[in-house]
Amino acid sequence: MANPWLQIPLADYEGHMQSAGVEQLAVLSRLFGEVLHLCKPASVAILGVAGGNGLEHIDSSVTGRIAGVDLNPEYLAIARERFSHLQGLELHCVDLSISRLRLAPLELVHAALVFEHAGVGLCLENALSLVAPGGVFSVILQLPSEISQGVAASPFASIQLLKPNFALIDVAWFRQTIAARGFVLSQEATHSLAGGKSFWAGCFARDL
Ligand SMILES: C[S@@+](CC[C@H](N)C(=O)[O-])C[C@H]1O[C@@H](n2cnc3c(N)ncnc32)[C@H](O)[C@@H]1O
Repeated sequence: MANPWLQIPLADYEGHMQSAGVEQLAVLSRLFGEVLHLCKPASVAILGVAGGNGLEHIDSSVTGRIAGVDLNPEYLAIARERFSHLQGLELHCVDLSISRLRLAPLELVHAALVFEHAGVGLCLENALSLVAPGGVFSVILQLPSEISQGVAASPFASIQLLKPNFALIDVAWFRQTIAARGFVLSQEATHSLAGGKSFWAGCFARDL
């Protein structure tokens, strides 16, 4: 069966993420901006880049290589159009849960709300193998909430197609799994959102 993300127009995804009671798009953008500011990477990969949310924070004088990855070619076409001015932008259409990424490693690998959809099998392997020695793996996970569903209701009905393939990732399990792969948790924080949800954001440093 085709991946449900291929049936969701970017306008629906972004409309949903900006809708009253969801309001996550700006938070995701800000959190990515903060990681960029902290790490000042010469190269960055964004897994599940969608339409390029947050790429406006890239400082081209610092970051010369930007690799965005997503399975939806229409999202990537829009990202390419929006950020055509960004030097060093490369966009790769890959299903991270099915295909192995073959890219040169990058100093920062950022994955926000991707593992909930793509799982932690090959997608996680792809993420870890992309982090250069001495680099950072930055992750944003959605936390469980008693008052809000995994995929929230909004006027954008197509988003509900994502429900069957959506699974929260246990943060304690995630921390342990990444630590067992030789990464060290360098910072973590919880961010409360409108609508009762919250995100966990963590950065893991890879040894040289
Ligand atoms: C919840 S969105 C997160 C978007 C983005 N990180 C942001 O800050 O707005 C998940 C994104 O991951 C992409 N995605 C989902 N599963 C994927 C997979 N298996 N391989 C590649 N991309 C995937 C979707 O197409 C979508 O753009």
